[in-house]
Amino acid sequence: MVTLAQYKNDGNENENNTMVCNLSSLVLVFLLFATTSYAIPAREVSTICKQAKDPSFCSTLLNSNPNANLVDLTQYTIDIVRVNVTNTIKLINTLIAQSTDPKAKNHYKSCLENFGSEGALGDLDYTQELFKKEDYQGVNLGASSVLDDIEDCVSGDTPSVPPFHDLSKLPQYAAITESVISVLLVLSINLGH
Ligand SMILES: *[C@@H]1O[C@H](CO)[C@@H](O)[C@H](O)[C@H]1NC(C)=O
Repeated sequence: MVTLAQYKNDGNENENNTMVCNLSSLVLVFLLFATTSYAIPAREVSTICKQAKDPSFCSTLLNSNPNANLVDLTQYTIDIVRVNVTNTIKLINTLIAQSTDPKAKNHYKSCLENFGSEGALGDLDYTQELFKKEDYQGVNLGASSVLDDIEDCVSGDTPSVPPFHDLSKLPQYAAITESVISVLLVLSINLGH
């Protein structure tokens, strides 16, 4: 499996080839434009959402933006993930300040790393960059990394250590964020075709 770090390096090599591919990219861009620039019908939203972890959550999310094309919907979903991650970071900071139990405090501190600029937020920034470059396979990989970061907070990054039994709102926040990312994953797969 290609990690995000390896992918970033490969990206640099690819830049050398762009001149050669210019003409074919132009044709490809035209084709992509032709297929993705129209508002997608509700029927297509439901087809796309069948591939998501929670289809009804996906349909509600995408139908709240009815006249958007696939590219706009993807940007819209990235923006929601950003709001979710930012809200979760705020919650984690409050939890760190309020915890008296050292075990809990440690858990929230490591979650802050998982969600922060070295984790979910940083990976989301990179995902946004790749989206601007119309690298939709990269968007898919970036979104998977954000998902992994969040999973590290929820389940812990050491499989031998049982996950912290968290009674705060954090697991709920994480679960909703994961559902939104799952929508981003299916959108990026459909854009990549
Ligand atoms: C995440 O976004 C969804 C969709 O907009 C929203 O329902 C949910 O409340 C948000 N959660 C957080 C923690 O921001």
